[in-house]
Amino acid sequence: MDGLTVALAKGRLAGRTVDLFIKAGVVRPELKEIMDETSRRLVFSSEGPRLNFFMAKAPDVPTYVDYGAADVGVTGKDTLLEERRNLYEVLDLGFGACRMVVAGREEIRDRLRYGNNLRVATKYPRIAVDYFGRRKQQTVEIVKLNGSVELAPIIGLADVIVDIVETGATLAENGLSVLEEITPLSARMVVNRASMKMQRVRIAELITKLKKWATEADRER
Ligand code: PRP
Repeated sequence: MDGLTVALAKGRLAGRTVDLFIKAGVVRPELKEIMDETSRRLVFSSEGPRLNFFMAKAPDVPTYVDYGAADVGVTGKDTLLEERRNLYEVLDLGFGACRMVVAGREEIRDRLRYGNNLRVATKYPRIAVDYFGRRKQQTVEIVKLNGSVELAPIIGLADVIVDIVETGATLAENGLSVLEEITPLSARMVVNRASMKMQRVRIAELITKLKKWATEADRER
């Protein structure tokens, strides 16, 4: 494809990313309408300084960028920490702000602090292993789930969860609390290592344009 190819994480972040690209004058506002009208469509192109967008599942965005199928990607920091691809992380876009936490019932707080042999349910096994094994030096058993992780401590599958908290509503509704903070998260822009050299001018221009607006998005948080 001609021009830069950008992989977007399907879902909440994709809309915010296109809004940012429009504000920064990188794509025309019509792109948003096309995306809204044809929500099942996966590939979009803009006129002018050509950008090709495609939508992928968030955890696949780093994979597309790593293999060079996309020059640039936008996805959450959680995905980048979990996937650990060898990419350049060039920009914190400011939106999609949330936290990676350990959550569970209040009663487990003391055991969580020092205890071993806890069972941890999560969509993010590598982040969980890194946090408990390397940072806290605790031996835990990790159970990988694919969603609705809050169920695990309620149903008795796990003692705690490692998951994203944004508003805290899901935890509160399920009688769970944030017990430990792992790291703050937000949407990040990543670049393929070869593209950074081969498309240096185009990518530098894109980063410069987005940076101003990304900083403003940051302030709105
Ligand atoms: C995410 C996350 C929590 C919820 C947190 O789930 O895994 O469940 O959002 O948001 P809150 O703090 O604002 O309530 P998502 O909606 O992506 O779906 P999932 O549980 O199926 O992964």
